[in-house]
Amino acid sequence: MDRMVIRGGVALRGTVEVSGSKNATLAILCAALLTDEPLILRNVPRLRDVDTALALLSRLGARYSWLSDHDLELQAAQLHSHEAPYDLVKTMRASFLVLGPMLARAGRARVSTPGGCAIGARPVNLHIAGIRALGARIQMRHGYVDAHAARLNGARIWLDTPSVGATENILMAAVRARGSTQIENAAREPEIQDLAAALSAMGAQIRGAGTHVIEVEGVERLHGAEHRVIPDRVEAGSMMAAAAITGGDVTVRGVVAEHLEAVIAKLADTGTEVISGPDGIRVKRQGELRPVELRTLPYPGFPTDLQAQMMALLTQARGTSVINETIFENRFMHALELTRMGADIIIKGSTAIVRGPTNLSGAPVMATDLRASMGLILAGLVADATTELDRVYHLDRGYEALDRKLAALGARIERVRAGERAAEAELS
Ligand code: UD1
Repeated sequence: MDRMVIRGGVALRGTVEVSGSKNATLAILCAALLTDEPLILRNVPRLRDVDTALALLSRLGARYSWLSDHDLELQAAQLHSHEAPYDLVKTMRASFLVLGPMLARAGRARVSTPGGCAIGARPVNLHIAGIRALGARIQMRHGYVDAHAARLNGARIWLDTPSVGATENILMAAVRARGSTQIENAAREPEIQDLAAALSAMGAQIRGAGTHVIEVEGVERLHGAEHRVIPDRVEAGSMMAAAAITGGDVTVRGVVAEHLEAVIAKLADTGTEVISGPDGIRVKRQGELRPVELRTLPYPGFPTDLQAQMMALLTQARGTSVINETIFENRFMHALELTRMGADIIIKGSTAIVRGPTNLSGAPVMATDLRASMGLILAGLVADATTELDRVYHLDRGYEALDRKLAALGARIERVRAGERAAEAELS
């Protein structure tokens, strides 16, 4: 397996361009199932998760071609299969998002349930309850959700928790249901707004995306469209944290500052200078970092997908920081790896207490998920000696060309391919 090798100690400087949003792309790719006409998507990030989604959509009968590096044309003229198999859903939970659109288009869908995950149980009960409320007959057997509905009917749906995935799945089912649907306590994430924008371009009638109540007036059919995916706010936040932790000066380009308000506010609390301008967001840090208290929350609160990166940063702040993770119950696996690098972190339930500043020392580390991997990369950027991050495939799921982007800012980071490593070992 490939590794990322980092030699820390360089303050990052320069400009970095953010790719398109992974999470928005994954949802919008599934939306292509709602029409037999082509969907052209621009600013699509080149990621392993996008490849997985395309493999799944191909199995269902869709065809795609890359028009250029980041522009994709996708068409589900006919659906040959109605089954999202376990092997694909288990590698990427977002595969479960085909349930709503496939059912709305074809009247049936058989989708494997995702099972547990490294960061928590992550059930899909809200997806299923919502789609049932739209009139689908759903049976759960042999690890699959079997759903049938000749035509879905609009309904009023209350989500117990503003789940991003459940909001997306229900929204994609409701756009072709008969009558109107209200999704209450809906997730408000920018990725939901982007999905709604893509669906609207396809002819859906949606109001209120980005608020707690989304209203949908079902339409008979959707048509082809062209849509540009929003920038990835998690990648942007990760690069901002990289600038802050190394005491650098980096401009992150191609971002929507409004999507990052909570992150900008927290970084500013640490004493990092954050300036939003027409060229992007400039992040500069000269003095010492201050400790902060932080709570992950649904948007517009601080995103759980940047919690690991913030934890790495706070190991360098003078004093005690407190991080409260409220979205996922097991999302502190990176804390143990950071501790192995010399961080002083105590975990008590869903709270992490980080005391700093600590001198981090490079070590072989490995991560259990995508964002935890990024937290460890950030730690490696300030650690002495060499940090070797294993299981790079986690990073490939969600960060496009991460090593090249960081290296362009001056970081000493190198991806060592599995084959090269074996050859090195033979020589030495
Ligand atoms: C999405 C994002 C992920 C992000 C997360 C929270 C994608 C592909 N992934 O994941 O990067 O970390 O939002 O911002 O967009 N829950 C239930 N029942 C359900 C669904 C969710 O109890 O049916 C709970 C989950 O266990 C979790 C919380 O709701 O505690 C939020 O999860 P959710 O918003 O659904 O996250 P995902 O859509 O899986």
